[in-house]
Amino acid sequence: MPTTASVTKLQAGSGMNAGSATMKAIAVIPGQPNTMHVRDIGRPTLDQIPGGRGVLVKVLRVGVDGTDKEINAAEYGAAPPGFDYLITGHESFGRVVEVGPSVSELAVGDYVVATVRRPGSSIYDQIGTYDMTTDDLYYERGINLRHGYLSEYYLDDPEYIVKVPPGLKDVAVLLEPTTVVEKGIAQAYEIQRRLRVWRPRKAAVMGAGTIGLLAALVLRLRGLEVTVFGRTAAPYLNSDLIEELGARYESTVTSPILGESCRRHGPFDVIFEATGASSVVFESMRALAKNGVLVLSSVTGGDKTIQVPADRINLEFVLGNKVMVGTVNANREYFELGVKDMAHAESQYPGWLQRLLTHPVKGLENWKLLLDTLTTAKGAIKVYCEVAEDR
Ligand SMILES: NC(=O)c1ccc[n+]([C@@H]2O[C@H](COP(=O)([O-])OP(=O)(O)OC[C@H]3O[C@@H](n4cnc5c(N)ncnc54)[C@H](OP(=O)(O)O)[C@@H]3O)[C@@H](O)[C@H]2O)c1
Ligand SMILES: [Zn+2]
Repeated sequence: MPTTASVTKLQAGSGMNAGSATMKAIAVIPGQPNTMHVRDIGRPTLDQIPGGRGVLVKVLRVGVDGTDKEINAAEYGAAPPGFDYLITGHESFGRVVEVGPSVSELAVGDYVVATVRRPGSSIYDQIGTYDMTTDDLYYERGINLRHGYLSEYYLDDPEYIVKVPPGLKDVAVLLEPTTVVEKGIAQAYEIQRRLRVWRPRKAAVMGAGTIGLLAALVLRLRGLEVTVFGRTAAPYLNSDLIEELGARYESTVTSPILGESCRRHGPFDVIFEATGASSVVFESMRALAKNGVLVLSSVTGGDKTIQVPADRINLEFVLGNKVMVGTVNANREYFELGVKDMAHAESQYPGWLQRLLTHPVKGLENWKLLLDTLTTAKGAIKVYCEVAEDR
């Protein structure tokens, strides 16, 4: 755990106060839509983290997703105290270039990915499970009150930096999105210990986007029979990737979730919901097997209302001892689990992860192309910025 002093210093802006050297970063002005820009700021220096615990990382790649789009649209996101801008980017990958004298867990040259959430004050934050905070105010690098990683360098405490083996360097930018899935699935298995003996066989993943694909991968690595539901008609890249895992893809346009495919391939012992469509949650509840567990991950910011067969859903949940659980963010434990699963994936399905990296954009100065690609590119699975070459 970092010292209180180091947390306090990090809370003052994640080490982004002006040092003597400068660097480029992509930032937004929170509260004002469409303000993404590139700016020169001070490069962080090790002494900004007390106790000799600083780790300076050269950023190589940063992935972007809907969160970055929504922050640029000023739907949420706040600047760190003392700043009027927020450096964006939460899906990082980089290489350690400098460590403080009291850092023994990382060395110069290590490939690393940083976690996103930083501790608040609840009991969960204090024991390292800051992804389970009960605080209303949360701290997330690149999202809320802490600068992110779309910059040439970042500084942090080793507590929040996870080492990645060199064999994963070409795909490690996918680790942060993978942790969302790792947490959801680990929580599902943890909850199911209630059953003393739980032998899940059939899983469904709702959504075949980046998160759905990674959920399908992790569930296949656990040995489950997996059916993934999306809207687009097969074949397309995502359905091909799903089939390469030995999983099945169904388009809900021709094959509704509660239709023939659920009768044939379900009901499902585990369902991971990642469509972004809250209506799918209620269909998922009905496709869940007795004693099953449904993991919800879609962040639905709208105010949609729908009609559901409430009595039936409730009755099936009660009589079937079913569980539904929400999951957000991830702590260090799930990053470490993600590293293991990505290594497992590379040996089980070589080259598969690489194929998710569909849309690279070179250089921080090309932030506009990065944003346009994120917003409009057809067939994009992961859009990411190649901030620097690895040399
Ligand atoms: N909880 C967390 O910590 C966390 C972290 C990151 C992301 N998320 C959430 O995870 C969700 C998925 O993210 P993503 O990046 O994978 O999104 P994405 O790339 O937009 O993928 C969404 C997928 O869901 C499918 N879909 C959408 N509406 C559907 C419907 N009504 N019925 C069936 N399929 C539907 C889409 O199909 P088509 O493309 O064929 O239309 C697509 O395959 C988002 O809601 C995001 O907020 C949560
Ligand atoms: Zn993300």
